[in-house]
Parts: sequence; C-alpha cells; structure tokens
Amino acid sequence: MVSAPETPRFAGKVALITGGASGIGRATAELLAREGARVVIADRCREEGNALGSRLRRDHGDALFIETDVTCPDSIEAMVTRTLREHGRIDCAVNNAGLSETPIDLTDATPQHWTRLMSVNLRGVFLSMQHEIQAMLESGGAIVNVSSRTGLVGKPRHAIYTAGKHGVLGLTRSAAVDYARHGIRVNAVCPGLVRTPFVERKLGDRLGELAATMNPMGRIGEPEEIAECIAWLCSDAASFVTGIALPVDGGAVA
Ligand SMILES: NC(=O)c1ccc[n+]([C@@H]2O[C@H](COP(=O)([O-])OP(=O)(O)OC[C@H]3O[C@@H](n4cnc5c(N)ncnc54)[C@H](O)[C@@H]3O)[C@@H](O)[C@H]2O)c1
Repeated sequence: MVSAPETPRFAGKVALITGGASGIGRATAELLAREGARVVIADRCREEGNALGSRLRRDHGDALFIETDVTCPDSIEAMVTRTLREHGRIDCAVNNAGLSETPIDLTDATPQHWTRLMSVNLRGVFLSMQHEIQAMLESGGAIVNVSSRTGLVGKPRHAIYTAGKHGVLGLTRSAAVDYARHGIRVNAVCPGLVRTPFVERKLGDRLGELAATMNPMGRIGEPEEIAECIAWLCSDAASFVTGIALPVDGGAVA
C-alpha cells in the first residue's frame, strides 16, 4: 500500500470523475484517491478505466470503474445510479470527459461536427450535472466542470470547441447560482495547454515548439497541475467559492 497523508483531505468522500481514465481525469482520480476519496472513474474506455480502477484499489483501497458514455442519457443515469448504489452518496463530481477538435474554419464545419463535439463537451456536462445535482440536493456537494482557456477567449479555427467550452461556463455559473442554497458549489477550471494523450494525439511533433510560445511561462502544463486545482475546488478549503472559472494556464489568458 502507498502511504497516505495523516489526515486525508477527502477521507470518506465519494468522488465521481467523468473521462477519468486518461489525462487530466486520471491525474484527478489518482490525487483524490491518494487523499482518501472513494473514487468512481466513469469513462467510455473500458480497458484503461479497469486498469486504473484496479491500480487505485490496490494502492488506496477503494475505487470503482463504471463504463460510461456521456453522449448517452441512459448511460449517465446508470453511472449516477450505480455510484449511489455502491456508496450511497456523491460528494464531488468532476465533469471532465471531452473531445478535441481538428482545426477547421467555421464556414467549413458541418452539423455533424457540431453534434459530435457538443454531445460530449456540452450536452454531456449538462446531463451529468442534472443527475449529480439531483443526488446532491439533500446532502450538498461540489461540482467541478473542466472547461478550457478556450472557454474564456476565442481560438482560431476552433469555433465549435470554443462555443462548447464557453457553454460549460454558462452551465457552471447558472447552477452555482441556482443551487448555492442547497449547499452545492459549482465551479470550473480553464486549463491551457496540458500534456495529455488528447494533446499529444493532436499536436504530435509540434508540441514542444507550441508549448514554448503558448503562455508567459513558456511551457506546457502537466495533468497533475490541473488536478491540484480541481481538488482544491472540490475541497472544504474552497467552501466560500462558487461560480468561478479558474484559469490554470501558465498566464495565457493574462
Ligand atoms: N489537454 C489540454 O491541453 C486541455 C486543455 C483545455 C481543456 N482540456 C479539457 O480537459 C478535459 C480532459 O482532456 P484530456 O486532455 O485529459 O484528454 P484525454 O483524451 O487524455 O482524456 C479524455 C477522456 O475522456 C474520455 N471520453 C471521451 N469521450 C467520452 C464519452 N463520450 N464518454 C465518456 N468518456 C469519454 C476519454 O475516453 C478519455 O479517457 C477535456 O474536457 C478537454 O476539453 C484539455
């Protein structure tokens, strides 16, 4: 067993993470599990999700993988129902599952492009939040949505991705306002360029060159650096914080 901190921040808490099998989601699952959470990894990728679930169970004692497709309402409902059946509650939910976009001019993008991206990046977050909030209405909780730097500013040739990530901030702020009195905090992180399979697939050899010019720090972010901010927003240390969109981008938006 890997040794845990003396008073784990998330001891006894149940944390659900969509897209938890890879990249930022995986780093978040690892961090929350290390800090005592009973982690539920929801992802459409069965092999990686099962492998991570087994490793976290071995190292930290409690973790569950639920095969989930956030484009499918029934699958999201099943994800939350199963989490409640196994653990009886959801304290933290991280809506992170997302797809990237191949650069394309807005005028060339098709309705199919729109549907493919929005069904994961915006509708998936919307549907997940509906079920998570329902589960948190009695006991309260914290939701963190993973938007993007592109949720705050435009990005050339990424109109649909940009619209989706802006939309995630709209959902975040609306839900923060609507559910604050239920003890539910809803925040978002807005990562800049982060070294994950998502980005490595997209940028390949151009990654190093781009990273040097993307932000004032002149480097790419690591998934663990985003996970730390997500964990803070989920934690009681952020008890008076709701409705924010936190850039985690090496100063790119600044
Ligand atoms: N990496 C970056 O530079 C960066 C920057 C800003 C925002 N983001 C956002 O961070 C989030 C995570 O991205 P990442 O870089 O870790 O990517 P990643 O590809 O490493 O991980 C994404 C995960 O989401 C899962 N997923 C995709 N579609 C799904 C679906 N329909 N149902 C369930 N799971 C699904 C994938 O299987 C994968 O495990 C995304 O929302 C992305 O838009 C990433």
